[in-house]
Amino acid sequence: PGSGCPVSGSGPAGQAPAPEMFTWEFATDPYPAYGWLREHSPVHWTKLPSGVEAWLVTRYADAKQALADQRLSKNPAHHDEPAHAKGKTGIPGERKADLMTHLLNIDPPDHTRLRRLVSKAFTPRTVAEFAPRVQELTDRLIDGFAERGEADLIHEFAFPLPIYAICDLLGVPREDQDDFRDWAGMMIRHGGGPRGGVARSVKKMRGYLLELIHRKRENPGDDLISGLIRASDHGEHLTENEAAAMAFILLFAGFETTVNLIGNGVYALLRNPDQRERLQASLAAGETDLLDTGVEELLRYDGPVELATWRFATRPLTIGGQDIAAGDPVLVVLASADRDPDRFPDPDVLDLGRRDNQHLGYGHGIHYCLGAPLARLEAKAALATLLRRLPDLRLGADPADLRWRGGLIMRGLRTLPVEFTPTGTDGP
Ligand code: HEM
Repeated sequence: PGSGCPVSGSGPAGQAPAPEMFTWEFATDPYPAYGWLREHSPVHWTKLPSGVEAWLVTRYADAKQALADQRLSKNPAHHDEPAHAKGKTGIPGERKADLMTHLLNIDPPDHTRLRRLVSKAFTPRTVAEFAPRVQELTDRLIDGFAERGEADLIHEFAFPLPIYAICDLLGVPREDQDDFRDWAGMMIRHGGGPRGGVARSVKKMRGYLLELIHRKRENPGDDLISGLIRASDHGEHLTENEAAAMAFILLFAGFETTVNLIGNGVYALLRNPDQRERLQASLAAGETDLLDTGVEELLRYDGPVELATWRFATRPLTIGGQDIAAGDPVLVVLASADRDPDRFPDPDVLDLGRRDNQHLGYGHGIHYCLGAPLARLEAKAALATLLRRLPDLRLGADPADLRWRGGLIMRGLRTLPVEFTPTGTDGP
């Protein structure tokens, strides 16, 4: 696969070499490298740190087409990997663990059936009704550090907020939620690294979810797991394994993404004081329009999902003029597409009021983010409450000293130290 294509680190014939990727500098600021690729090698064959080779699709128009192209499968069985690498590429789902048979690893018609069933339980109304609980959680977490005048917003705020929110939504009892926090912490810390601890955490989570599903079947409530068990479509239901895999993907897809949406979002606001003041003024005036467009702009400008999840060509096809062989892995670089000057005027400028902002931060096509309404709810509550309760919030470290977590798919800060004038715990 990919024969005759430029290898990693070298550009197309006669051109300057491609910038180095997947280094520390790249994780800190990948955008210049993506700019180079969009211009010189927009569909680029590269070797990933794991040793697997894949196409990177970097232009907006190509990215959008690829995300909706049914010839690209989500099922890792379509990967034409060398025999010696079978089962060792680190591509999630290649070894069929039950929890991995979820929405992001399957194609229609299975995907259509599962997505229809989950959509019956996880509705925009479920999310809207959850708003007061998200607000309460947000305030409680800020209470935890408001009197101190400094905090690490990743560990004390962005990290716990989504995990408690999703646990609540699913119906995980409060006394068990800290276990989830630990398992998720293990997965986020070691997602791309040593597999042992991660595998153990996944196993524990699976055992717990299956048992919880059992209990909810006996004793249903008004939570999402009970809803998943109840959901039926033309007489069809989710099996217990499917319900567990669904709960798992909701947790997994909704967790680190939201951590990074809050982390990258607050960081971008602190680095762009004019935009932050604009938002603060608008919120103080009781308006929500700028918060609405602002969260979308933060997703476009520095969204949590740098690369969409794995896709594999089921047959030969062409993307952006580049031939792709059957079996080749294709990674759509959302972070690059969303900075494409052919789609967004002044793409490197953060403009919270940006209109015509059809970014790809939530993906596109049949795998479009199922949790987008919840993500928006959490991000808006987090940003608005932080700015209201800690109005002089500022960075507590030199940006050059901040470290970014550059896993392959997600990108976010490891820590976000902040300072502010200490305040009471009750919230105004
Ligand atoms: C899918 C982004 C939050 C659940 C996706 C995809 C993206 C994305 C880009 C498509 C991936 C692909 O096509 O390869 C985000 C971002 C979030 C977020 C930026 C910001 C916070 C959430 C939340 C949940 C969630 C809170 C649920 C609680 C899902 C699920 C899918 C998905 C289940 C798979 C949908 C399918 O395959 O049909 N998300 N997500 N996401 N997301 Fe999100």
